[in-house]
Amino acid sequence: MADTDLVFRIDAPAQPARQAEIDRLIGDEFDLDLARLDRFGRFGRDPGFVSFGGWDGEAIVAHVGLQPMGLHRGGTAVPAFGLGLATVHPARRGRGLFRDLMERALAFADARVDLVLLETEEPELYHRFGFAKVAEHSFRGRLEVAAGPAAGRCLRLDVAADVTILADLFARRAPPSLVGGLDEHPMRFFLKALESPEIKLVHLPSLDAVVAIEPGAAGELVLLDVVAPAIPPLAAIAAALGGGFDRAHVFVTPDRLGWVPETVVTEATGLMARGRLPVDPRPFGLSPMHV
Ligand SMILES: CC(C)(COP(=O)(O)OP(=O)(O)OC[C@H]1O[C@@H](n2cnc3c(N)ncnc32)[C@H](O)[C@@H]1OP(=O)(O)O)[C@@H](O)C(=O)NCCC(=O)NCCS
Repeated sequence: MADTDLVFRIDAPAQPARQAEIDRLIGDEFDLDLARLDRFGRFGRDPGFVSFGGWDGEAIVAHVGLQPMGLHRGGTAVPAFGLGLATVHPARRGRGLFRDLMERALAFADARVDLVLLETEEPELYHRFGFAKVAEHSFRGRLEVAAGPAAGRCLRLDVAADVTILADLFARRAPPSLVGGLDEHPMRFFLKALESPEIKLVHLPSLDAVVAIEPGAAGELVLLDVVAPAIPPLAAIAAALGGGFDRAHVFVTPDRLGWVPETVVTEATGLMARGRLPVDPRPFGLSPMHV
């Protein structure tokens, strides 16, 4: 490795002791408690997740992670990896460790897929590795749905039966969009929900769906994601939620929602791509239900 006293390791998946050490390094840098995922069993940790680490004995000092994900773009399913949880211990920075792990992770990804995605607030870190910014959008428009009886219930991630409902739907899930949508293990969805108590996960049994929603202004439905084997129309989702809406702000690409937005909003999500992203002029937004 760049630091010759370190040992390079790939963990896929990590042994429990090594996983706890990886969690500690990531928790210290990003204030993210990955150990909370363990309560979700096989739905908590993505078995496809690959950790690239620089180890000083039993202590990890540098990490880059890769997670398999399927992007749907331009009507095509594109197998990809998501790159993230990149950090180097402060005492080890500036010596090429990040570059070293990035090169190893990208060689691993390049041998398997044609596309790597990431989200960052520091794009200049990743240009040197061939990543380019990709614009993401959200969608606003009218949605007249009168108030009526609600047919939904909020799920709680500390209730095993509720987690089972969500996990079952994830196992049968269809991509929310074919123009621009993600299909991946629920790990990042669960983490986002745990990190964001304002987000509600509402089970709509009549639609065989769970929707992630956020409080909006009066009369506004703010839809973050739909987990369902068949994506229901937005109007049906709004009615099952109890209606009383006159407009919507939607954060998934709406081609499967039977709804035409009036305004497309550019979102500063920091999405970057490296490799073959299908060309499609239509604006898209991947759900924000991930950390
Ligand atoms: C960003 C971070 C991973 C860099 O680790 P590092 O081991 O110091 O980086 P390296 O020494 O391998 O540097 C690799 C390259 O990135 C450049 N670089 C390092 N930090 C940078 C920064 N903050 N902004 C822009 N470029 C940076 C270096 O100049 C070097 O360029 P070169 O290879 O062309 O000479 C580390 O500072 C860190 O853990 N920061 C906090 C967590 C974080 O921001 N992670 C990224 C989240 S998207």
